[in-house]
Amino acid sequence: MNHFDYLVLGSGIAGLSFALQVAPRGRVAIVTKKDRAESNTNYAQGGIAAVTSKEDSFELHVRDTLAAGAGLCKDNVVRTIVSEGPARIAELIELGMQFSEREVAGPNGTRELDLGREGGHSKRRILHAKDVTGREIERALLNAISQQPNIQIFENHVAIDLLTSQKLGYVGANRCLGAYVLDKKTAAVETFAAPVTLLATGGCGKVYLYTTNPDIATGDGVAMAFRAGAAVANLEFVQFHPTCLYHPKAKSFLISEAVRGEGGVLKTVEGVEFMDAYHPLKSLAPRDIVARAIDSEMKKSGADCVLLDITHQPAKFIIERFPNIYQTCLRYGMDITKEPIPVVPAAHYQCGGVVTNVDGETEIAGLYAVGEVACTGLHGANRLASNSLLEALVCAHRAARRMAENPWPPNEVKIPPWQSGDASNPDEMVVVAHNWDEIRRCLWDYVGIVRTNKRLQRAQARLAHLQQEIHEYYWNFTVTSDLLELRNIATAAELIVRCAMMRPESRGLNYNLDHPHANPDWAQRDSVVRKSG
Ligand code: FAD
Ligand code: SIN
Repeated sequence: MNHFDYLVLGSGIAGLSFALQVAPRGRVAIVTKKDRAESNTNYAQGGIAAVTSKEDSFELHVRDTLAAGAGLCKDNVVRTIVSEGPARIAELIELGMQFSEREVAGPNGTRELDLGREGGHSKRRILHAKDVTGREIERALLNAISQQPNIQIFENHVAIDLLTSQKLGYVGANRCLGAYVLDKKTAAVETFAAPVTLLATGGCGKVYLYTTNPDIATGDGVAMAFRAGAAVANLEFVQFHPTCLYHPKAKSFLISEAVRGEGGVLKTVEGVEFMDAYHPLKSLAPRDIVARAIDSEMKKSGADCVLLDITHQPAKFIIERFPNIYQTCLRYGMDITKEPIPVVPAAHYQCGGVVTNVDGETEIAGLYAVGEVACTGLHGANRLASNSLLEALVCAHRAARRMAENPWPPNEVKIPPWQSGDASNPDEMVVVAHNWDEIRRCLWDYVGIVRTNKRLQRAQARLAHLQQEIHEYYWNFTVTSDLLELRNIATAAELIVRCAMMRPESRGLNYNLDHPHANPDWAQRDSVVRKSG
């Protein structure tokens, strides 16, 4: 049994930022299922939205966030996160994060932060490190963590389930006591006990066949919290990024919205601009509108993709501003300074998640959730670009502060070791692979950018059948990380469908042809789901 003061599940921006904050007050375990840097954070391109320029204001950032969120954002949460952003950014810079800068016009050659622009933002306010912002964030945070003797990182360790007092049969308010964790190298299941557990496991892009997310994004946090009895909400709001590279050999490579921010224009494969028919902001319209427009153009023409053209910008500018995108496309045989980029929409971001307040507190005592796994009310029905890294930074800090003000007493509860029952080695991995593919295709086909009631019902029926099969398989065999992830994507998929079926309207990212308009009765209502029984 491993005893710590803080158990952090996940090593993206949320988990690492939190660990750094609490380390001076106790021993911290960071459990992460692959290498320490492997996370959605590591692939973030565009940057972090924060008010840092004289031309900008908190009021404008709040207004843009609320407009994108289509009526469902929590006003106080938006204001808190937006207004605390600049202080958190300053701390990140203090830790060694290097944002891109530009020379200011004038005689003395001073430099200032270079601010990018993305869809839905009325001002340039995106701080970035060229087009590899996330990689630089992980580098800076992991470097700071390596100097903290109180933090221990457990790589290749997969959290299986949260340990709660209720699950162990104790009466009274439910309390989180830690987690069972699979060590992938030894195949042993270990117990991690701690008075405080932070879920920072990121999102669930892998629930969909096509996604910008890396393989870690299997909805583990939402699934674990749901199984433990916490409320989850607004999972129907899956954000599809309009521009994922379309190439048979490119797995999940994003073409940043910042490319459109620097003048990139969307065109059909025939080279005709089409966004002016959909929104006055054209290619820089909010993401849900651009993704739906592309989907509609592709369906109309039968084409496999659309094009994103930035060739009118000088080659030197493109190569310096977007070195990763330029080099990656070049490896696939495309010179983006000379030819447009083939792109398609792909699942990108989970706007809903485990219900928390702005301090990361969930309904279960001792369990916190921060980052993409959480639903704080910042994003509402559609996240404003580059607000997620900001949310993770601010809420990780607030959760750590909250714990300092109200420390949890140590757990007195006796925790039994993991029981694997009558387990034998899984000899039919083909079943796992098949179910995995079926879920991802089902969500893509039936619960995608455009939904209908009938498609949602079909998805629900298929998923119920798959859940049954997975449940039997899970209990009969030794757990492996593939099996754990399969169980979690199945749960995340089911929750997305349940939330989508609860909402009888189209709002933000939830577009349903049977309810094509916003329903005023649902203007302020979250779709909340809890485990029954
Ligand atoms: P993550 O960074 O995803 O970290 C999750 C961690 O949890 C990982 O370490 C993972 O291994 C671990 N984990 C998961 N399950 C388990 C388990 N069962 N056991 C143990 N460990 C587990 N947002 C912006 O604001 N600006 C951007 O420019 C931007 N660009 C993006 C580009 C891409 C390609 C993608 C995919 C996303 C982008 N986003 C961007 C979204 C943003 O990157 C994420 O929302 C954010 O990084 C999430 O941070 P996180 O710490 O919550 O989770
Ligand atoms: C991008 O660079 O387009 C991603 C930004 C985001 O998802 O916030």
